[in-house]
Amino acid sequence: MSKKRIGILTSGGDCPGLNAVIRGVVKTSVQLGYDCVGFLKGYEGLYDPVRYITLTHKNTTGILNEGGTILGSTNKGRFAATVGVADRVELDPELLEGVKTTIDQLGIEGLVCVGGDGSLAVAQQFHEYGIPVVGVPKTIDNDLSATAFTFGFDSAIECATNALDRLHTTAASHERIMVLEVMGRHAGWIALHAGIAGGGDVILIPEIPWTYESVCHKILDRESHGKRFTLVVVAEGAELPEGGNVGSERSGAQARLGGIGQMVAEEIESRLHRETRTSVLGHLQRGGAPTTFDRVLATQYGAHAVRLVVEGRFGEMVCYHPPEIESVPIIEAVNQLRQVDANGSAVQAARALGVSFGDGRTDESPFTAQVELESEPVATSSDVELDAEFTLDIAEAAAEEALS
Ligand code: F6P
Repeated sequence: MSKKRIGILTSGGDCPGLNAVIRGVVKTSVQLGYDCVGFLKGYEGLYDPVRYITLTHKNTTGILNEGGTILGSTNKGRFAATVGVADRVELDPELLEGVKTTIDQLGIEGLVCVGGDGSLAVAQQFHEYGIPVVGVPKTIDNDLSATAFTFGFDSAIECATNALDRLHTTAASHERIMVLEVMGRHAGWIALHAGIAGGGDVILIPEIPWTYESVCHKILDRESHGKRFTLVVVAEGAELPEGGNVGSERSGAQARLGGIGQMVAEEIESRLHRETRTSVLGHLQRGGAPTTFDRVLATQYGAHAVRLVVEGRFGEMVCYHPPEIESVPIIEAVNQLRQVDANGSAVQAARALGVSFGDGRTDESPFTAQVELESEPVATSSDVELDAEFTLDIAEAAAEEALS
């Protein structure tokens, strides 16, 4: 009789650590007496045509620290089950039946689906259809509820922090305002963590409404203290003050976000007449080797996903509840996004250090539990324009004083 089999696929946008999960699944499966097969290009490889490779020690050796995924991935195609937050699209029953047939014919005891919210929503539909799946949470955005961390996030913030470190020195040398646009479609975790780690002065995220007046106010305030450069970090998904995101709509697919950094920079430059430059980090955040943290997390996820299959706990997803790896029903992870708590400790700490979230909150009350948008002491746009020259004088006076 042929050996028992475990299947694995990687779906959605890639991120560092996918190969570490694959390796973790393969090594654990082999150790427990299973054969392992990897389906190619996400869910697409499951049906019409079925495309997979046999995964062994030999073809997974040395991939622990490699970026990308040896199985390929896609966030488009026949299995794209969400086009936005909670916009579940029902999969074609014929597709579901085809996948079930593949799983049965290949004798797969359990299929490990590695993906973010959209991909796990597909896994949930598979589960409801009776296909034996378990989930592994992946996304650089770290926006899946039911887990403290998704793998890929730490590598992404490492990349963004590194970029801020570099921007810091050149911003200081040239006395420029530097705007860094980072990923983060629905949640500002990357902007928040990289902003804190890289000494950002202004952090703009989807969870906290902000105004240009407040951003300019912060820049001028820094100048009045002799700091003639500013680092602004903005999440691609941060909403504009006038409402809406920046990016291009695509029919039947998620909008492609991007461009808010440039808009913010242009607005600052036109209001304050200060040289303002933009860098867009884009897919650099998704490439390259995983950090140590992500390797450990991804490896543990891989091993524990196999445990879920062996124990027959289908429809569950591994998750990280520090310090342990646990599991939750996949439905819990896809029903709600995990966004930054605008009154959480990380935001409070940043405010306590003087970081502005563009909402006009002063740093005198960083630990109060409410975002007081009504009473913000921000200048109006005309105030800011009028005050620009005046504040420059103050900044120069402060600099002179510092030198004397
Ligand atoms: O969901 C992860 C993510 O990196 C988002 O932050 C970003 O908007 C999206 O993927 C980009 O996807 P794509 O590579 O398909 O443009």
